Formats: sequence, C-alpha cells, structure tokens
Amino acid sequence: MSRLLLVSNRLPVTLRRSRSGNTEIVKSSGGLVAGVAPVHQSEGGLWFGYPGEHVDKAAREVLDEARYVPVTVSASEMRGYYSGYSNSSLWPLFHYFIEHARFDRREFEAYRTVNERFADTIAERAMPGDTIWVHDYQLMLLPRLLRERLPSARIGFFLHIPFPSSEVFGLLPQREEILRGLAGADLIGVHTYDYARHLVSSFRRYLGVFGHEGTINVDGRAVEIAAHPLGISVEDVRGYAYSSAAENRVADLMRDMRGRQILLGIDRLDYTKGLPLKLEAFRTLLSDYPKWRDSIVLIQVAIPSRTNIESYRAQKAEVERLVGDINGAFGRPGRVPIHYIYRSIPSAELGALYRVADIAVVTPLRDGMNLVAKEYVAAHSDAPGVLVLSEFAGAATELGEAIRVNPHDVDGTAAALNQALEMPAAERKSRMQAMFRRVQGNDVHAWYRRYRRALDRESTTDITLPERYSPESLAEKIAPALRSAKRSLFLIDYDGTIREFVDDPAAASPTDETLSALEGLTSIKGARVVIVSGRGRELLDDWLGDTDVGLVAEHGLWFRLAPDQEWNRGGHRADQAWKTYVMSVLDEYVGRVPGSLVEEKVASLVWHYRAAADDLANWQARELANYLEEFLANEPLEVLVGAKNVEVRQHGLNKGTAYERIYQEIGPFDFEMAIGDDRTDEDLFAVVPSDTVTIHVGPEPSRAGMSLSSPEAVRIFLRSLTGLVRR
Ligand code: UDP
Ligand code: G6P
Repeated sequence: MSRLLLVSNRLPVTLRRSRSGNTEIVKSSGGLVAGVAPVHQSEGGLWFGYPGEHVDKAAREVLDEARYVPVTVSASEMRGYYSGYSNSSLWPLFHYFIEHARFDRREFEAYRTVNERFADTIAERAMPGDTIWVHDYQLMLLPRLLRERLPSARIGFFLHIPFPSSEVFGLLPQREEILRGLAGADLIGVHTYDYARHLVSSFRRYLGVFGHEGTINVDGRAVEIAAHPLGISVEDVRGYAYSSAAENRVADLMRDMRGRQILLGIDRLDYTKGLPLKLEAFRTLLSDYPKWRDSIVLIQVAIPSRTNIESYRAQKAEVERLVGDINGAFGRPGRVPIHYIYRSIPSAELGALYRVADIAVVTPLRDGMNLVAKEYVAAHSDAPGVLVLSEFAGAATELGEAIRVNPHDVDGTAAALNQALEMPAAERKSRMQAMFRRVQGNDVHAWYRRYRRALDRESTTDITLPERYSPESLAEKIAPALRSAKRSLFLIDYDGTIREFVDDPAAASPTDETLSALEGLTSIKGARVVIVSGRGRELLDDWLGDTDVGLVAEHGLWFRLAPDQEWNRGGHRADQAWKTYVMSVLDEYVGRVPGSLVEEKVASLVWHYRAAADDLANWQARELANYLEEFLANEPLEVLVGAKNVEVRQHGLNKGTAYERIYQEIGPFDFEMAIGDDRTDEDLFAVVPSDTVTIHVGPEPSRAGMSLSSPEAVRIFLRSLTGLVRR
C-alpha cells in the first residue's frame, strides 16, 4: 500500500525536560505544523522530524502512537544546522533581512550532515510505492539525498517561506548546492506565483537550467515548479473557536474590554513579523487620532521562538521596550492601551481572541503566507471584523478585501487602522464574507488535493539525456539506412551546430570545413540539405548562397529551399498545446478576482478583469503578467498587458512550423535527419517523424535521441557519413 511520508524539521510536538526532570510534550508552534497536521490526520502514513531534546521510553511510545518517527540530532548539530544555517543564514536571507544573515561554512556542514541523517532515517523506513513529501527551508538538500537513495520514489517538496528574488538568493555561498538539492524533487511547491518566478530565475541564473511551462529539466529529469497557496483547516479553527472553553473566554473578554474596539496581533516573536513597526503605527494612531484613545485596545500575543538566537533576543527586548513606552505614555489606571502576552496560548484562548477582535492587525515585513490572517477570517466570518494585512505576506495575494498596508509606512498603517476602526458594519461584513468564501474554497484539504494531483501526475516531458556518440561510430550506425534511401532530408542548424560560436556573431561565416561538410552531403544522390537558422536571410545568403543547400531564416519567417528560388515568407503555427497550461493559470486568477473571465481565441487567451474591483484586480494583473513572462520566456508566445486584460499570444513561428512547410514543399522523404544545439531546435525535434535521426549538439538534455559533443564533431560525422554512403 502506498503511504505518505511527511518530513519536516520539527514534529507537531516538541519534547522537553520539565523542571521535575520528566519529559514534557508541547505542541509545536508555527504555520507549517498548522498546515500539515490535518494532512497527516487524514492520510495516515508517517511523519519524520526532530522531536526535541529529551526522548525517553514513555515519550517514544507517544511518538509511535501518533506515527511520528524521530530523527536524532545532537545538541551541537542543532546549533550549526538549526540555529546556524537554517535560522541565521537561510531564514533571514529568504525574508530579505540581509543584515541578519551570516554565512559560516561549518554551519553549512552541520546542515548537510543533518539533512543526510534525515535521508538515512527515511530510506530505512521507506517502502516501494511510498510518496515522500519534504517541507521547508531546513531540509532543502534532502530531495536530492533521497533521490540518490531511492531513485524511483515520488518526492515532493514544499517551501513555507518566501523564495527571494534571484539577486538576493545569489548571495548565498552554497546557492548551487541548495538548488541541486531541491531539484531532487519531482514537484517544488511554493505559496505564490512570485516565489515560483524567483525560483525559476535562480535555476536559470545559477545552474543554467531552462524551463518550459513551469517544468525545468535538471540532469535529464523533469522538475515541476508551481504555486500552491497553503490553506487552513476551517473546521478545526471553527471547532476550537466555538468550543465551550472558548465561549467562556469570549464572555470574560467581552466583559473586560467592554466598550472598546479590540485590535489583535498574533505573531511568533520574529523580526520578520514587524512587531516594532506595528507598535509604532499603533502609537501614531493614538497620537494622531486622539478620538480613539479611550475606546481601543491592542492585544498582542508574541509566541516565543528561537530564543537562543541573538537577533530574536534583541527583537524581544525592543518589542518590550516599545510596549512599555506606549503604555507609559498613553495608559491610565485601569486602562492600558496594549495588553502584551509573551507565551504560547491554548487554542480555545486563541479562538476566543479571534472572535472578539474587531480588527486583526497582520503586518509582517515579509511572510511566506501567514495563516493567522486566514484563521482570523475563518473564526470571525459571521461577525463584522476587519483584516489589516501587509502586502508583503503571501496571504495578501488571495485576501484582496483586506485593508492592505505597507508596514514600513508607519503613517500609512496608522491611517489604515483608523479606516478599519471607522468602517461601517455592513462593509465589514461583506468584505469578510468574500474572504471567507475564498479561505474556505482553498482550505488545507483543497491545497493538499491540488498539490498531490500535480505530484502524482506522470511527468510528461520527453526531454532526457540523449545517448552520446563519437562522430565515427554515429556515422557507422546511420550509414546503412541512408544508403538504402532514395530521397533524404538533412535539417541542420547553423550556429553552435555546424559552425562554432564566435564573440562577434557577424564574424561566424562558414569555414572551409563547414562548407566542405555541407557540400559533401549535397553530393549524396537524392539528398536535400536545409540550414534551419534564426539568422536573417541576407547573412545566410551571403554565407551559403553559392552552395546547393536550402535556407530557412529567422526560425521559419523566410524560406528559400532551392538556390534558384526567391525568398518567400513562412506560415503560422497551428500548435495549441500551450493553451492547456496557460488556461490552468488563468483559471486560478478567475477564482481570485471575482468578475474576471477568460476569453479563448484561435491564437491567444485573454484574462479580462474589466468588471472586477479595481485595486485588487490591478494588483493581480501585474502578478499574473510577471509570472507568465517568466514562465513562458522560452516559448514562441508573448504576454501583453492591455487595458483591463492580460493576453498570451502566439508568435506563430518556430522551427517546428518551418518543418511543416519544408515537408510540404519538397517532401516526402524516406530518410530524415535533424541536428541542432539549442532550445529553438527542440521545436523541430518535437515535430519530426519518430524514425527521424535527431542529434543534439552538447551535453544538455534534449528531445533528440543522440548527441555529439561539438560543431567539430558534427562536421567530422557528416564527412564520415558522406564517405561511407558514397563508397
Ligand atoms: N499559533 C501557535 N501558538 C500560539 C498561537 C498561534 O502555534 O500560541 C499558531 C497559529 O494558530 C498559526 C501559526 O501559529 O497557525 C502561525 O502561523 P503563521 O503562518 O501565521 O506564521 P509562522 O509562525 O508560521 O511564521
Ligand atoms: C515557520 C517556518 C516553519 C517553522 C515555524 C516555527 O512557520 O516556516 O518551518 O517550523 O516557523 O519555527 P521553529 O523554528 O520553532 O520550528
């Protein structure tokens, strides 16, 4: 039976030694556990992770019972792997806190060692058919380490934090190793389209790997990169928010806070959460909008986190100083403006707070997703509440009806809080309900279903590592078929295939060797040789006009298949396969922006949002266009941002369509060969008949069946082939 093996740094429970010396079991905090726990509950299977520092026999039984598999990590390894590389290099860098990031090679060694420990522990327990799903930045080397141990396993990875732009990611000394680690997965999931775009650019920039509609090819394997925004379990949140324990707390809180609007913050105490700026904005609200002084209160829960790291301790000190300052300046006996709680709170307490809060203030400086925002919406949907949400939280892309703020703009945030406090109940309700529908529609179960469907899909790529030949052995292999052919076709790319690249592209005129290899081919009886190039027609004419080869210029815009012909223009491409992928992305945006729709035309797809609310839709349109531009960069497609629409349109020309024209004009043939070195030649390999001899030049993966190492090898191959056939 196929099982789901979940893997994260931390298990959903953490074991600690209590003061009395016994083992204490506490629930782990944070969004990862909140998101993944419902999946473990519904799917069964195992969950691998670090259990904490004190695992005795009784604790082991508790772990077994819950199907948690502890991965042993020593205290000193934890210092390098967890406090060090994970939380003092990756975490700050990925959240754009470069000033908090340090890079220490020994800490990276510890990170690798612990990732290897995870790989060994999982490999020991894995069975054929298991699906392995690795979570988050602490385990980015693990997909590859697992792939080495379990080559045919289905491996997913999900990143719960932002993936930064490639310039920022590029600061990481181990960037290549980290990317290679991730590429061991079949599917890399991230929360937003922006993060997906950043990840693809990093693969391109630092590993030289190219993508095609969301799939990149690394070492001959297809790796899909996709945005799958994490959701919450609405029923769990409502379960604890409406429990009898929560009802009691709601009553107490209402009594204590009577007559005051409650603003609520729930954050792990982390510098990414922007607590000092939130407190500054609250101070500005009190000083610039004095009418609220007696009628509002901020309840701020700060959940202790990573307390042995200096930047976290400094943050705590700063937050507590600000709370003291503000309460000192604006409080009076019996009335303090900020109620500050520094501890984890039980879920009934959390649920009660969500329910009584008139305004949730979620203002991280950077946050992969932020589940607190969604939990507030789920718990509060039937009462008139307002969500004030940072535009730098992943959740902002889905929760368009929140009041969006830039947390660095303290005055702007204070004004947004004022706007929230003034918002009439009817508007609060309608915004909240719209968000609730979305939170419910993309809950954690939908998230898992979609991710799982994508992970289970057999990879459809036909791009693999071609078999490498020496020029002579390839000629020997092919000569018999060519010898028995009456009419043969040779489609040959120019630059990088039959002629080396040179610094000045205009100087890449054919050498004597190039010309002699081509002329040899044209002398074979019944052979037609066509150079299929991206070059302009004048240059091709200058360089090859005196030979017997046919010419295709600008990827099929111009044709001159026989020397005595004039140049004539090419046709348009009929392939519609790109539409399936683009449509799936546009559909997601239709779900996000109420009132928007997709129009399908013969050669384009258009997402229209004229009927949609302006601010949200413009925001989404920008995100969509950026994403599509990145993901379709190597396709014969263009992305056009119009007035209230985003359109994806075919360029219409590539070497694949050129082939159709060549075949119509000078076919049929009983032997065909295509040779090329780059992405544009893949379009040709994709359309030629399956018995065509396809040859890629270079070491990369390709659709071609065989490969040669260089243009020189191609020329030697063609000369040997000519020699063998004419003999
Ligand atoms: N949470 C918690 N302990 C608490 C209060 C809240 O674990 O005392 C939960 C909260 O319900 C939410 C998660 O912590 O599910 C925080 O997730 P979020 O995505 O907002 O931020 P993260 O902490 O993962 O950065
Ligand atoms: C975020 C991270 C998680 C992490 C959680 C709590 O949600 O994405 O991977 O588990 O914070 O942090 P901690 O360091 O206590 O596990």
